[in-house]
Amino acid sequence: MSRPKNDTFLRALLKEPTEYTPLWLMRQAGRYLPEYCETRKRAGNFLNLCKSPAMACEVTLQPLARYDLDAAILFSDILTVPDAMGLGLYFAEGEGPKFERPLREEWAINNLTAPDPYEHLGYVMDAVSEIRRALDNSVPLIGFSGSPYTLACYMVEGQGSSDFRHIKGMMYSRPDLLHKILSVTADSVTSYLNAQIDSGAQAVMIFDTWGGSLSAAAYQEFSLAYMQRIVAGLKKDKDGQRIPCIVFTKNGGLWLEKIADIGCDAVGLDWTIDIGEARRRVGDKVALQGNIDPNVLFGTPEIIAAETKKVLDSFGPGNTGHVFNLGHGISQYTPPENVTALVETVHAHSRLLRK
Ligand code: CP3
Repeated sequence: MSRPKNDTFLRALLKEPTEYTPLWLMRQAGRYLPEYCETRKRAGNFLNLCKSPAMACEVTLQPLARYDLDAAILFSDILTVPDAMGLGLYFAEGEGPKFERPLREEWAINNLTAPDPYEHLGYVMDAVSEIRRALDNSVPLIGFSGSPYTLACYMVEGQGSSDFRHIKGMMYSRPDLLHKILSVTADSVTSYLNAQIDSGAQAVMIFDTWGGSLSAAAYQEFSLAYMQRIVAGLKKDKDGQRIPCIVFTKNGGLWLEKIADIGCDAVGLDWTIDIGEARRRVGDKVALQGNIDPNVLFGTPEIIAAETKKVLDSFGPGNTGHVFNLGHGISQYTPPENVTALVETVHAHSRLLRK
């Protein structure tokens, strides 16, 4: 299998030369797009949308039809994995994700097992193959998973949280139980991502949304160590092509060198760190992905263009090693037309920087 016609994204991650800086947007298929809202309405709810390979494929392609993006990302959610472990995921309208059976009892934790990705998450693998067929080798497809710690936050809290008192309570009273959850979850994520790779994902990303809420020592022990174990267990090649892996810890800027050291190809950055400084700190070790504040998209097209250039200029000269992205997911309130200014500026300005 050859590389996609537009393989700029893969080349930037592997630090091979590119003619311009490639980009995609976290949550690029989402509620800011009216066509997404229409498909979601047809599906009935968000989970049905994730569980229907045909509709997941349809929404994956929607942002690519509108904007000149350099990668597609599988439409799914990180919480499908704990759902497949039997926790009973549901989305209460307007309230975000919840689990029917939060994981807090010792007996339940001891009974936790890694789901078989083909048997219990077959709908995700079907979506990956269907999206690859539909993309017809135009741009690469990114597969993804949550980090064990981020998944455990939702599993133990039973929903989103502002203080994480249940999971941190467990961390500081029964660390053995939390380690057990993280260990089973790390095994689950490893086989889930490898199944996505076998089904056609051409790069993978691990989303660690909540690792940045930990102390430095706890981050190492409860989040980074498990991501390192996953990265070590990932398939590095498929059909002769390297499969790059991106690790993103939101609010992880303080620990950048340590993240860059776990064997991943690229590190995702949120907007709180200057990307030029990040580059100086990691040197040649990894590529960087990021990192404009998604709220810049509420500005005027002129200011969006200026802020986009600031990120590209700060990354600095050189013709590879940067994938432009937002520092976190795009807001559902983003005016879709504002995204055009960002996409066009990334491509045009990064070409100028290479002259
Ligand atoms: O980037 C993409 O386009 C791929 C799709 C994707 C979704 N979720 C779709 C989604 C990805 C990569 C995710 C990851 C995800 N899901 C994370 C990690 C990244 C991050 O944003 O921090 C987390 C923490 C989740 C869990 C989750 N799923 C939450 C907290 C929510 C509710 C948030 C909200 O905006 O309401 C979801 C739902 C969700 N996942 C939506 C989408 C498009 C909105 C659902 C809807 O249509 O109602």
